[in-house]
Amino acid sequence: MYFKNSITGILTTGIIALWTLAVSAQNPERYAPGAEPDRIILNVTADPSTSMAVNWRTSDLVSEGFAEIAVAEADPRFVSKAKKLKASTQKLVWENTPAANYHSVIFENLQPATKYAYRVGGEQGWSEWIHFSTAAGSGQKLSFIYYGDVQVNIASLWSRVAREAYAKAPDARLAIYAGDLINKANRDVEWGDWFRGGGFIHSMIPSFPTPGNHDHYETPEGINTTSVFWRPQFTLPANGPKGLEETCYYADIQGVRFISLNSDQVDVSEKWAQVQKEWLEGILKNNPNLWTVITFHHPVFSPKTTRDNKRMRETFKPLFDRYKVDLVLQGHDHTYARGMANIPMKEGGQSGTMYVVSVSGPKMTDSNVDRAAWMDRSAIYTQLFHVVNVEGGKLSFDTYTATGELYDAFDLIKQKGKINRIAERIPADVAERR
Ligand SMILES: [Fe+2]
Repeated sequence: MYFKNSITGILTTGIIALWTLAVSAQNPERYAPGAEPDRIILNVTADPSTSMAVNWRTSDLVSEGFAEIAVAEADPRFVSKAKKLKASTQKLVWENTPAANYHSVIFENLQPATKYAYRVGGEQGWSEWIHFSTAAGSGQKLSFIYYGDVQVNIASLWSRVAREAYAKAPDARLAIYAGDLINKANRDVEWGDWFRGGGFIHSMIPSFPTPGNHDHYETPEGINTTSVFWRPQFTLPANGPKGLEETCYYADIQGVRFISLNSDQVDVSEKWAQVQKEWLEGILKNNPNLWTVITFHHPVFSPKTTRDNKRMRETFKPLFDRYKVDLVLQGHDHTYARGMANIPMKEGGQSGTMYVVSVSGPKMTDSNVDRAAWMDRSAIYTQLFHVVNVEGGKLSFDTYTATGELYDAFDLIKQKGKINRIAERIPADVAERR
């Protein structure tokens, strides 16, 4: 292209470059599936000490998929011992997204605390052999990761958080996502960014995602529905209430009961609030685990002063109090806050539940985020991730910034017949980021 005037040339080139960038960001073909597997992801099952779920995607020309698994060995001949399983395959055609086949397998009858190697694919192409470890028994030391909203600029600015988290906790047995994994529920290119952002980490550490408002859409009939991609691309425990399968679910892992609630359905409907309340009470009442961790998107105590998720608080907090839920992991407000010491029980006395709101992606809230009395520690304008270790009667919670610095930390210690004792470990030389 020839420009008489160099300024015009620079400007025009700049505009064309921006336009190309915008078009390629929108291009629904950007993450078109091929013959070889992509978007490989592990998900927790109800008991990841003996089973593990894997999903992946190909073009719809690949009509069947397989997974192979063996106990991992340093001797590469271990592959000859692999067991081959046929996948369930589901075709997804959605608007202008290229048609894809989503494949899934649940590996069963695994040995606890064992490193396995698996691969997925078939004749048209296989993935690499990928390692994962099954969970150990109750009472063994457990490590897990927690992320607040990922949501936007996922490939460009969330990926660094996922990599720092993996470097800090390579032995995590699950990664919790507290909703708003992406921004527009049914845009395939955003899911493409999410899979690219997490890369191979998604295929090694099982995910435990709960959906947020941005992971939902409204059908033409006006029904609030989880993304059309959610169930094809994830395989989550189907032990939730009818109609909310794979968004409400729970898993028991090394003495911790992990529960996902679908707070977006609570937000829009009293009926779904009551359905989840009844289901939650059932699994809190009959819980053989020492620890209980619950995740959902809309916070019970909102760091944003213009927001108040009253139905969430009124429906669930009495149950959290009664059944001594230890940790509640939330998102939605694009800032960080956690608190327990100044949160009361309805009947009086201090709540024994630690409430955390966090954010891992780059979307930030900077208005109406005044520091509130319930917060023991907070931050604005900071991408974060959390590594939690549970061993016996002690839960250690570490908050790291996107650059890997420890920003906040505390321990919860079990006390017989009483609420948890908190031991603060806020780094003395790190000022609160306000
Ligand atoms: Fe949200």
